[in-house]
Amino acid sequence: MWAYQKRLQYPINIKKKDLRMAKYLVTQYGGGNGELAAALRYLNQRYTMPDNRGKALLTDIGTEELAHIEMISTMIYQLTKDATVEELMEAGLGTNYAEHGPALFPTDSNGVPFTVTYFAATGDPLADLMEDMAAEQKARAVYENLIDMTNDPDVIGPLLWLRQREIVHYNRFKELFEAYQQQYQSKIEPREN
Ligand SMILES: [Fe+2]
Repeated sequence: MWAYQKRLQYPINIKKKDLRMAKYLVTQYGGGNGELAAALRYLNQRYTMPDNRGKALLTDIGTEELAHIEMISTMIYQLTKDATVEELMEAGLGTNYAEHGPALFPTDSNGVPFTVTYFAATGDPLADLMEDMAAEQKARAVYENLIDMTNDPDVIGPLLWLRQREIVHYNRFKELFEAYQQQYQSKIEPREN
């Protein structure tokens, strides 16, 4: 079960409307390398981790990613707050408005909707952890791209913090991958038949 704390993991206080940035940032909500994909990927994969250490790590990081979804959603909400329909259309958010009004909807920045194929589970601990390490590196790279696209310190601060968390997650997955590598060496060796 989860216990909800009514506060953000890192404070978000964006004072300046920036619809273009909101359009790009949505990818960290519903894109393939985004926080929703990460949370659901890890919380789904945890059941087939071979021991409690693996299950605990996937639960731990998957849970933190839920808090990151909340941060990204809050950022998009603040970046788009009080926007007129004309402003949304001008910023390329007219298609989102047509389908969803002012609601948040998980897509990437091209408008491609979230899909469960982002879960990427094989049930093989080495393959899944390698996927997770790559996912963390890709999320870090996307955060860096997003940081390059704004000069608002209220946006850059939380993005830098989120980028840092991806590095921490990558290192924790790598540690587990290396531990399992010894244990499941036979899985990554050539087979006779
Ligand atoms: Fe992460």
